[in-house]
Amino acid sequence: SDITVLDGIEKITGERPVFYKADVSVNADMEKVFNENKDAVAIVHFAAFKAVGESVQKPLMYYQNNIQGIINILSQMQQNGINNLVFSSSCTVYGQAELLPVTENSPILKAESPYGNTKKISEEIISDTVKSDKNLNVVSLRYFNPIGAHTSAEIGELPIGIPNNLLPFITQTAIGMREKLSVFGDDYNTPDGTAIRDYINVVDLAKAHVLSIQRLLEKKNLTNYEVFNIGTGKGTSVMEIVKVFETVSGEKLNYEITKRRPGDIEQIWADTSKANDILGWNAQESLENTIKSAWEWEKKLASLKTNKPD
Ligand code: UFG
Repeated sequence: SDITVLDGIEKITGERPVFYKADVSVNADMEKVFNENKDAVAIVHFAAFKAVGESVQKPLMYYQNNIQGIINILSQMQQNGINNLVFSSSCTVYGQAELLPVTENSPILKAESPYGNTKKISEEIISDTVKSDKNLNVVSLRYFNPIGAHTSAEIGELPIGIPNNLLPFITQTAIGMREKLSVFGDDYNTPDGTAIRDYINVVDLAKAHVLSIQRLLEKKNLTNYEVFNIGTGKGTSVMEIVKVFETVSGEKLNYEITKRRPGDIEQIWADTSKANDILGWNAQESLENTIKSAWEWEKKLASLKTNKPD
């Protein structure tokens, strides 16, 4: 991401997070961070790479960062007696499920990308480690498709280079940074032919982490490794997203239908009853407000660029 995110967090929360420029895959770096924060009660691990396409190009970079990263974190937690971890997993572990919506018990399929494989392997590493260490408690959150920004427009997505993901591509097209959106395929077996995902508001997703930490600290977890789907429970097609964007922004979006993107699945959405009933979490924000927040954020970024001195 970008160092300016710290300013945004400080504006929203009134607190400036302690920051280390460190590499999660370098154990010496993690040793320093953990040694200097021995009073930490829980870890939330966000320091993984997450671009599917890039992982196909650079698999070793993904395995090095994502796998060595989780190993370093778990071993530093053990060495420092920190017992609670919230791990960012992904619905990618389900691949193209036969039955929809997917529950946490749906089959874990062979990963379609090195990125997906790092999430699958990380979950296995965690599962094996908690079996051998009864003090350790972990919650893995299987994110569906996170979108949107904080409503203050102080923090939001900051894709580096050309965005891979749908929402930042849409907002960058509407603001004039990209010529047009390619809609990857309209010949899927879905009502309008475009692919379906479960788009979850990023602040709702953040709240699932807060609840997970509370659950761990209050020792309410039923087993020492728990997994939750974090989505809305509702599938939305690419064309539906385009339409909602046009409605909430008042902008006409330039798009064309192109061929399918290799590696894309046709459709997925979550059964979120476990998160609803056990974690006490519900997706609250509407798709309209979420897409609006992404648009407000894009406009804010554009205004910062315009006002920047040469
Ligand atoms: N899409 C387009 N045009 C674009 C970008 C995306 O039509 O320019 C479509 C995709 O084909 C897909 C949908 O929009 O149907 C969503 O695509 P994203 O790239 O935004 O998200 P993905 O579902 O491919 O990937 C996301 C996360 C991954 C995660 C994966 C699990 O980015 O980290 O979900 O399914 F692994």
